[in-house]
Amino acid sequence: MKTLILYSSQDGQTQAIASSIASSLAVEMRCEMHDLRDAQDIRLENFDAVLIGASVRYGHFSRILHKFVRRNAEKLNAMPSALFTVNLTARKPEKRSPQTNAYTRKFLLASPWTPKLCAVFAGALRYPHYRWIDKVMIRFIMKLTGGETDTTKEIEYTDWEQVAHFAQDFARLAASR
Ligand SMILES: Cc1cc2nc3c(=O)[nH]c(=O)nc-3n(C[C@H](O)[C@H](O)[C@H](O)COP(=O)(O)O)c2cc1C
Repeated sequence: MKTLILYSSQDGQTQAIASSIASSLAVEMRCEMHDLRDAQDIRLENFDAVLIGASVRYGHFSRILHKFVRRNAEKLNAMPSALFTVNLTARKPEKRSPQTNAYTRKFLLASPWTPKLCAVFAGALRYPHYRWIDKVMIRFIMKLTGGETDTTKEIEYTDWEQVAHFAQDFARLAASR
């Protein structure tokens, strides 16, 4: 059993979540993890299951995710494949499911890929690491949505228990092949 985990991450949170899932899977199966940017030549047929994780920036997933999914939709649909998305809207529990998280719902509706399993995770807010313009923009969005506006703060909203449950669900999906 060999699984592939691909991630599209700007500031590291999606990568951290992917690493955590990879660690829990490694107990039962072989697991390879790559940045999606380095995965364009990866042959999915060499794997038994695939998991893709991607974060949202200014309302969108990365172009690399869309490109990869367009290119590989047929193969992804034919094998156990799963998606997890990461964003700050999901810090609110009522916006943390594929149906209630607007970015994820929109992606799934438009995508030629239908993942067998999908989860939405809350990401991290790390003001001190952002460029000035991003800090201003994120603070503005946080103000509008009742979030943290203190730009000295770093807050990780990710529910690691939710991540651990998802890793178990994915392991079961991979084993079902
Ligand atoms: C410049 C920027 C834009 C963002 N835009 C959004 C957004 O439109 N909606 C949202 O819910 N979260 C947004 N976020 C929050 C990120 O999705 C969140 O910080 C996530 O943890 C980032 O994951 P990554 O570190 O893997 O890139 C944004 C964050 C940054 C820094």
